[in-house]
Amino acid sequence: NSNLLIDRFGRQITYVRLSVTDRCDLRCVYCMAEDMTFVPRAQLLTLEEMFRLGKAFVAMGVDKLRITGGEPLVRRNILKLFQDLGQLEGLRDLTLTTNGTQLARYAKELKAAGVTRINISLDTLDPARFHALTRLGDINKVLEGIDAALAAGFQRIKLNAVVLKNRNHDEVADLVNFAHERGMDMTFIEEMPLGVIGEHDRAEAFYSSDEILRDLRTTMQLEEMAEKTGGPARYFRRDGGTARVGFISPHSHNFCDTCNRVRVTAEGRLLLCLGQEHSLDLRRVLRANPTDDFRVREALHQAMEIKPQGHEFNLQAAQPMIFRHMSATGG
Ligand code: GTP
Ligand code: 5AD
Ligand code: SF4
Repeated sequence: NSNLLIDRFGRQITYVRLSVTDRCDLRCVYCMAEDMTFVPRAQLLTLEEMFRLGKAFVAMGVDKLRITGGEPLVRRNILKLFQDLGQLEGLRDLTLTTNGTQLARYAKELKAAGVTRINISLDTLDPARFHALTRLGDINKVLEGIDAALAAGFQRIKLNAVVLKNRNHDEVADLVNFAHERGMDMTFIEEMPLGVIGEHDRAEAFYSSDEILRDLRTTMQLEEMAEKTGGPARYFRRDGGTARVGFISPHSHNFCDTCNRVRVTAEGRLLLCLGQEHSLDLRRVLRANPTDDFRVREALHQAMEIKPQGHEFNLQAAQPMIFRHMSATGG
């Protein structure tokens, strides 16, 4: 079926991450520099253009869209995009990755719009540490956001923590317990070297998924599960129950072989790999063909020829190989 998105390595793209803004109300030390220059608003895709892309992807076999950023909920009128995408037939999963600070305000409406799952970033339970890691955040807003998402009836909410040695590695069990007590999953992420971020030393801060697993296993049983969510995480079942712990381990357990995803930046650049620069200017294609979605699908199809085999992250390198920050990539 030539309508499907299949790359040179036989990998089918069924999962698209749409970044709706590179802006954020936080400045996490692993993600951004303290002082960031953001994309001028005029260069961003409009919400209508994003919807056109969403529709084109779904017509080509994509069944999972994740709205990300930056912080997606700081984009003006963002609910409209969720409402439109929520109506798309063929879309199995409409998901959101958020820092949680605006969820108290948005959770109910997101649920009503048809959002199926939410991933919320939370690296620590300690207010002072949270403030230090995010450079300016108030943890209470996130905790209220989590409560609002639970109250709105979202199932299988996932908390994400980027684990950094000597900043939050000693909290992994507490984070797991916090998540599981509330019926959420907990996922731990190895930091990826994207963008120049300032004083934080990525090689020094590396704490591997295997170290976390070893630490957790001193107080709980974790058994690897066969099934996946269609994302990059490996999941472990806790104590024979349904509570899960996930690991996203780009360094220690590379998952590029089974890559099923691409991303679109807020400016409409189709990024074929998180850790490479191969890309296609979709904004140009959209604007050159304002009513012709066939051209858009054709461009997506052609882009499969340049999807690279995988990332080549190197934590020891003096400079990151990729200068774009995670916030501009679609975290
Ligand atoms: P699920 O749908 O719940 O499986 O979500 P997810 O893990 O795909 O998405 P989420 O937004 O929670 O991402 C968690 C982390 O995984 C982020 O740091 C992402 O940047 C990272 N991630 C997602 N996809 C990829 C990928 O293709 N390559 C790499 N290296 N990291 C990825
Ligand atoms: N490496 C790994 N994960 C990162 N995130 C942001 N920057 C990085 C990075 N450099 C995470 C956020 C969020 C998810 C979308 O991406 O913490 O959980
Ligand atoms: Fe914002 Fe997420 Fe980046 Fe933190 S990791 S600065 S919350 S986009």
